[in-house]
Amino acid sequence: MNPLYRHSGNTLHALLLVLGLALSMPSLSRATDIVLNENCPPGFELDAGQCRLRTLYQMYASLEDAGVGGLKTGLPPHRDGFTPQQIDLGRYLFFDPVLSVDGTVSCASCHDPDRGFADGRGRSVGVGGEPVRRSAPSLWNVAFLQRFFWDARAGSLEEQMQGPLYDEHEMATSPEQLVRTLNGIPLYRELFRQAWPQDFQADGAQIQLNQVYAAIAAFQLSLISLNSRYDQYAHGYADALTEPEKEGMNIFRSFVARCAECHTPPLFTNQQVAVIGTPDPEGMPFDPGAAVPLNEPTLRGGFKVPSLRNIALTAPYMHSGRFATLREAAAFYTGGRGHAVPPGEDLKIHWHIWEPKLSDEELDRLVDFLQTLTDESFKPVEPPELPSGIQPVHNAIAREGTTPDNGVSNHE
Ligand code: HEC
Ligand code: HEC
Repeated sequence: MNPLYRHSGNTLHALLLVLGLALSMPSLSRATDIVLNENCPPGFELDAGQCRLRTLYQMYASLEDAGVGGLKTGLPPHRDGFTPQQIDLGRYLFFDPVLSVDGTVSCASCHDPDRGFADGRGRSVGVGGEPVRRSAPSLWNVAFLQRFFWDARAGSLEEQMQGPLYDEHEMATSPEQLVRTLNGIPLYRELFRQAWPQDFQADGAQIQLNQVYAAIAAFQLSLISLNSRYDQYAHGYADALTEPEKEGMNIFRSFVARCAECHTPPLFTNQQVAVIGTPDPEGMPFDPGAAVPLNEPTLRGGFKVPSLRNIALTAPYMHSGRFATLREAAAFYTGGRGHAVPPGEDLKIHWHIWEPKLSDEELDRLVDFLQTLTDESFKPVEPPELPSGIQPVHNAIAREGTTPDNGVSNHE
């Protein structure tokens, strides 16, 4: 929790809102002068010029050999080590629709901070307005992930983001267009210079593609959510959870429900791919999942086990967005092994998926528990103005009816 950070964000927002209204001439909408943040985001400490994550979980031994679901177990390794300026530059890029082919879609269009960095849709929608194949996952705590995408096809954030950037249904740009566009915006050249001063000493130094990827990765790595009521409980504050929530936690960890075998605390994923046999979206062909990129037929219909942190914020659920509520998602596990597998598909369903016969009450308690995993205390502030001059609104489809006329987010 960092109330100071939130507060200063609010004040800044309010100030820029007033300024924005006072100077509402379109030509002035472009930010002319931005100094990137010299401080690390909350949760990070500056160490030899780089931001390093600090969490209470670093006091505990690693997960290994600790059994699943235990309190006071460590987190898996994470990635950090960017400068404050690189992280802050990534924040501008993440929200800027100028990265897309026609300036309409930003990363935040489908990974909206106000929706747990997902988009509230069963299947995401990009530049053409056509739904893509799958649902947008949350980006909270990606710093701990080893593989990316539902089917685990990418091994780094830099590799991952080339998917949406260049996919014709998502942002549909090209590497050439991306660097040309950014180099054509003097303010972006200045901000990249602030983020990589040593690379911009020569006259006419240009923004490089790998710097764009690094900055966006740096920003995503700062999205840390580890201060939920569950975490307070895990660190020893017994009153952080109510009795029904504790009951839910015990069901979650039980060998009957087995949730913690795959959604292993404290990250709430064991980072493996599992075949559990969830249904595909209505009318969509069977999604073979990880079997394709991993070239492993036994993983047909397998998906990466998602973290359940901030899960209450990211409905609808699963790769398909097929379940509208957490109750429906939890009830899937008690529907019987393979009950949603289409006829003709012979999937190797994971052995932890079986017939737990959870009662309605137990399902309710599971939902109570899942709701204790919410923590947005380190939610980054959305830039009120962007170097491109484009309003940082999310795309109209994703944010229908929720964007104020002036385009300034006043969500806080
Ligand atoms: C059109 C909507 C859309 C846009 C725009 C978009 N994403 Fe995504 N994102 C998705 C969807 C859908 C998936 C899951 C796709 C899959 O698994 O096949 C995803 C997956 C991801 C993942 C993997 C998360 C995980 O847990 O495996 C990351 C990281 C991510 N996006 C970051 C970004 C970044 C950074 C940008 C901007 C450069 C971006 N996305 C733009 C829809 C979008
Ligand atoms: C065998 C491993 C495994 C077990 C056991 C398991 N899950 Fe999952 N869980 C997964 C996988 C894999 C997915 C993603 C499946 C998909 O998208 O089709 C998932 C998805 C979810 C989601 C949706 C997440 C999102 O971001 O959309 C929820 C909620 C969930 N599980 C809760 C539970 C609960 C509650 C239990 C115990 C009753 C449980 N899981 C047991 C592997 C498992």
